[in-house]
Amino acid sequence: MSQGVPGINPPSEFLDALARSSLVESTVKYGSLAGDIGLRTALQVEMKSVYGQNADVTPDDISVTTGCNMAFFATIMALADPGDEVILPLPWYFNNEMTLTMLGIKPVPLPTYPHDGFVPSAELCSTLITERTKAIALVTPNNPTGAIYPPEVLTSFAKLARDRGIALILDETYRDYIIPGPPHSLFSPSSGELTDWDWRRHLIHLFSFSKSYCIPGHRLGAVVASPELQQHIYTVLDCIQICPPRAAQHALAPLLPSFRPFIHASAMALKERHDVFRAHLPEPWHIGAQGGFFAFVRHPYKGRGSTEVCKHLAEEWGIVLLPAAFFGYSAPGDSLDGDRWIRFAVANVSDEKIRMVCERLKEHLATSAWELHSHRQVLNRDHG
Ligand SMILES: Cc1ncc(COP(=O)(O)O)c(C=O)c1O
Repeated sequence: MSQGVPGINPPSEFLDALARSSLVESTVKYGSLAGDIGLRTALQVEMKSVYGQNADVTPDDISVTTGCNMAFFATIMALADPGDEVILPLPWYFNNEMTLTMLGIKPVPLPTYPHDGFVPSAELCSTLITERTKAIALVTPNNPTGAIYPPEVLTSFAKLARDRGIALILDETYRDYIIPGPPHSLFSPSSGELTDWDWRRHLIHLFSFSKSYCIPGHRLGAVVASPELQQHIYTVLDCIQICPPRAAQHALAPLLPSFRPFIHASAMALKERHDVFRAHLPEPWHIGAQGGFFAFVRHPYKGRGSTEVCKHLAEEWGIVLLPAAFFGYSAPGDSLDGDRWIRFAVANVSDEKIRMVCERLKEHLATSAWELHSHRQVLNRDHG
């Protein structure tokens, strides 16, 4: 349960189409820097289906990338210079932090807390903005916490980005697992609370075909941003990818709408798996947030850091999980007791395996000599 990968294959129609696409002569050649127009047009149609028919997105707003990590990399290179700052909620998706650090850009941590369900605060974020801040980068549903940021929270971040003249990057790799949608209405012309909003001035949306389309090995993702910013992104993409994989684009483009029932069914199955996990996880293990591919869970053992607990469970109990420390998180208080959070990836295992893991955790509780936190301490920590 350590890796955030889909546990199922894509529909066989896609695999058949991919085999045929690999024989199409044009797919062996370089293609457009922005990605093939067929997939960009098809993605625009899907975005209207996900975000609402008034979502104002055109194929010129879209570039296709070799996966979403590439989308983040190209976006950051287009937006920021060494010495600039980008705000990331903590715990963070480690590849985002690594990209920034490699490029000499400072990742500024925006702490999130268990008592808020690990949803970040725009108010707290506003205190971290300096003249070097180029962007706030949010991931929702989040990796590693699984937290789904409510539309009103995204609106408050959009307002902050608008008022402070910076970019809001939204990585929505797991957006298809929000039931019911839509995840937000930021692609619509200004309405309601968010006045004077022109998404192209501030919003950059990142997407991955790896998760909901179950094709991580075929490396397709996307950046949705203003055509002006896309010009800079193309320059970066020209240097790092030239074009995204062509056979996969060719095969996927006409099939995108036909994936809708498949995506809906896998989102429902994943929701049920989260329910199974919640129902079977033995107390006093405690879920802090859940959504998308992940659950963020606090272990109950006193004086043991999350890394020690994960190492022990992997080596002795055959349960492989990732400790919060891998995601930059050791709060609150930096004490061992604060470092008790663990990411469970629930997407790539069966319901039966989920039950089995929970059984093993129960057995561990019953047989281990490790001391438990008292209920009172647990509650204090929760609200502290
Ligand atoms: C939040 C987030 N963004 C991006 C990625 C990478 O996606 P891709 O396979 O499209 O590069 C992942 C993969 O785990 C992820 O969790």
